Amino acid sequence: MKIGNLELENNIFLAPMAGITDLPFRLICKENGAGLVYTEMVSAKALLYGDEKTKLLLKTCKEEHPLAVQIFGSDLDAIAYASKYVSQIGEIVDINMGCPAPKIVKNGDGSKLLLNLDLVEKIVKTAVENASVPVTVKIRLGWDSENIVAVEAAKIIEKAGASAITVHGRTRSQYYSGQADWNMIKKVKESVSIPVIGNGDIRSGRDAKKALEQSNVDAIMVRKSISWESLDF
Ligand SMILES: Cc1cc2nc3c(=O)[nH]c(=O)nc-3n(C[C@H](O)[C@H](O)[C@H](O)COP(=O)(O)O)c2cc1C
Repeated sequence: MKIGNLELENNIFLAPMAGITDLPFRLICKENGAGLVYTEMVSAKALLYGDEKTKLLLKTCKEEHPLAVQIFGSDLDAIAYASKYVSQIGEIVDINMGCPAPKIVKNGDGSKLLLNLDLVEKIVKTAVENASVPVTVKIRLGWDSENIVAVEAAKIIEKAGASAITVHGRTRSQYYSGQADWNMIKKVKESVSIPVIGNGDIRSGRDAKKALEQSNVDAIMVRKSISWESLDF
C-alpha cells in the first residue's frame, strides 16, 4: 500500500478521533498492527496564530511513524501555513472535510465544505502547493441525502493534487447514526485513480475483510484498534 511515495506496512488505518487519538493511544494501535495512525484534527487557523495548546496536540515520537496529521479549516492562508508546519511533523497532511460538529460547520469548515466544491478545490491545491509530503483528504458522502457529492468531490480532490481520499460512508446529517453506505464508497473507488480508504462500521476482522472485498478500496480506516492477528486472513 502506497500513498504518494510513502510505503505503508499494511492497509488497516486508525481513524482520527478528537479527544481520543493522542500519542499513547496511537502508539497502542501501532503496536496492535495499524499500518497508519492519524492525529486528531487540529485547527489550521490555531496553528497560524501559534496557539501552544494546539501545537501540543501534535506531540509525536519516532516509534509511531509514519504519521498522518489531520488539519481542518477553510481559510487559505491558514491552510497554507498549517500544511507547511505539519509537513515537518508527519509523513502525510490530511484535511478534514467530514466533521459534522456544529462548532466546526458554523465556520464553514469540516463537512460544510461538501456544499462548496469550488472551495474544496482551492483548499486542496493550496495544501498541495505548500506541503512537502503527500496531501490526503477525508470526506463524507455529502451534507445530506439530497446532496450526495462524494464521487464529484473525489474527482475534484484528485485533480487538485491529493494523493489519497478517505470516505466515511455517511452524510453530515447522519452524524454517526445509521449504516455506512459501502456501495457509495465503492463508487468513489471506481471513479478515481488515487488510493481510496473506506471508513464506517468496521468493528471486527470479518467486517474488515468484507469491506475490502466488496468495495475494492485500497485500505480501510477503523475507529478501534483491531489487532493484525484478529483479522484472520
Ligand atoms: C469521538 C470521535 C471523534 C472523532 N474525531 C474525528 C476527527 O478528529 N477527525 C475525523 O476526520 N474524524 C473524526 N471522527 C470520525 C471517525 O474518524 C470516523 O470517520 C467515524 O467514527 C466513522 O467510523 P465508524 O463508523 O467506524 O465509527 C470522530 C469520531 C468519533 C466517534
